[in-house]
Amino acid sequence: MKVRIKRQASPVAEPYWETFIYQGPADNTVAGLLDDLNYRDDIVNEKGEAVPRISWECSCLQGMCGSCAMVINGTPALACETFLRDLKGDVITIEPLRKFTVISDLVTDRGVIAENLKTAGAYIRHFAPSTGKEYNHQYTAAKCLKCGLCLEVCPNYIRGKQFFGAAFANDCYLIASRNRDAKAAIHKAYDTHFATGCSKALSCMEVCPMHIPTIASIAKMNRAFSAPKQKETP
Ligand code: FES
Repeated sequence: MKVRIKRQASPVAEPYWETFIYQGPADNTVAGLLDDLNYRDDIVNEKGEAVPRISWECSCLQGMCGSCAMVINGTPALACETFLRDLKGDVITIEPLRKFTVISDLVTDRGVIAENLKTAGAYIRHFAPSTGKEYNHQYTAAKCLKCGLCLEVCPNYIRGKQFFGAAFANDCYLIASRNRDAKAAIHKAYDTHFATGCSKALSCMEVCPMHIPTIASIAKMNRAFSAPKQKETP
């Protein structure tokens, strides 16, 4: 099986494609494939040339940390959750996430996800305990891995622009629902950096490895902050 990997030695280096031959089991994951290529005594490309080891990130190898997010055969996914047997074709292409700065090969800088919260001033000022009514969705929204897959597929997210994407919306919900007295500030941040830019394509929900129903966070934010309906006077 041929594996084409988009490589880049540093954030300022030119990217290039390099092809490898993988002869391991088809039951492996993409993470296992990368390990297989890297752990040989000498890593060589398709032409037999010695090349630098492939940089990529992983921690849990069980879909729990989000560090192995990358683009596999054109689809953003976690490498440790993508099995070779589920991929079509004889050639696998692997690229770094395209909406983040590449640090090296498949490693990207996703610090912008946390930076966006700081930029918007979306953080807890006065912590309030979870209420029974909200607990279930708070638990679900808090599963966000900050892997960046939702931003990668979002047609509206462009790094450096005002719209911060689904991860931000879920965090706004969590922060607003656990904040005692700064809800208006969070709502302003949500309006500015999410509500006015989301076109409800909801591709974020299709790729989320934790299956977070972002639409529920959006609905809850809208419901919490919409003005109460005035009674129509006859
Ligand atoms: S290594 Fe943790 S999600 Fe893949």
